[in-house]
Amino acid sequence: MELEKKKAAEEAVKWVKNGMVLGLGTGSTVEFMIQALAKLVAKGLQVVGVPSSERTKELAGNLGIPLTTLDEAGILDLNIDGADEFDSNFRLIKGGGGALLREKIIAFNSKVNLIIADSTKQVEKLGKFKLPIEVIPFAKKGVLMKLEHMNLHPVLRLQSGKPFTTDENNLVIDVDIFAIEDVEALNHTLMEIPGVVETGLFLNLADVILMGKDSKVLVFEN
Ligand code: A5P
Repeated sequence: MELEKKKAAEEAVKWVKNGMVLGLGTGSTVEFMIQALAKLVAKGLQVVGVPSSERTKELAGNLGIPLTTLDEAGILDLNIDGADEFDSNFRLIKGGGGALLREKIIAFNSKVNLIIADSTKQVEKLGKFKLPIEVIPFAKKGVLMKLEHMNLHPVLRLQSGKPFTTDENNLVIDVDIFAIEDVEALNHTLMEIPGVVETGLFLNLADVILMGKDSKVLVFEN
């Protein structure tokens, strides 16, 4: 699995051209990509990155990749990010690392979204991975009750026994959507609950998926 992540990540940096403004995703697959990108930067490649999390900001900054903010950058040329699951319709579940909100904002503001993943992320039906939902702390109880009522078996994400907090100081509630057929309708319903900031369903965003499969990389274009 680690080899597949690395292969996909190394293939992804071949999409990077001199002068590009890049979205830098979050997660273990993206970390391989950042390492590969840093090597190219050290050799003279000129790019600037917008990190999707504090974790990515620290890693990319430490490896010498020039960084900026989304406000400064405006529209990004290419965003490279991972995924927790993807289906044949290029629909993704993201947010396993809790960075879904900034990741989705970056994806929305990018001309091209390139997803890198190992082969375990490819699914016939989304939802074996629990769907992360980012929620404002004030709304926690009400959102949990609503999600329970929707039969989505919500679980407040914890870290070291305390509620996990995102880079935007929100909470994450993970829900079970495996039984759901219409994920577009579900996403719409979830986004209408006051206090829900964003969901980890990335629909109509992925343009290309590079999937490591053994020592090869398969390319899926939308
Ligand atoms: C971070 O919040 C996520 O959206 C990641 O992109 C996703 O969890 C993939 O992570 P890995 O590359 O570590 O599997």
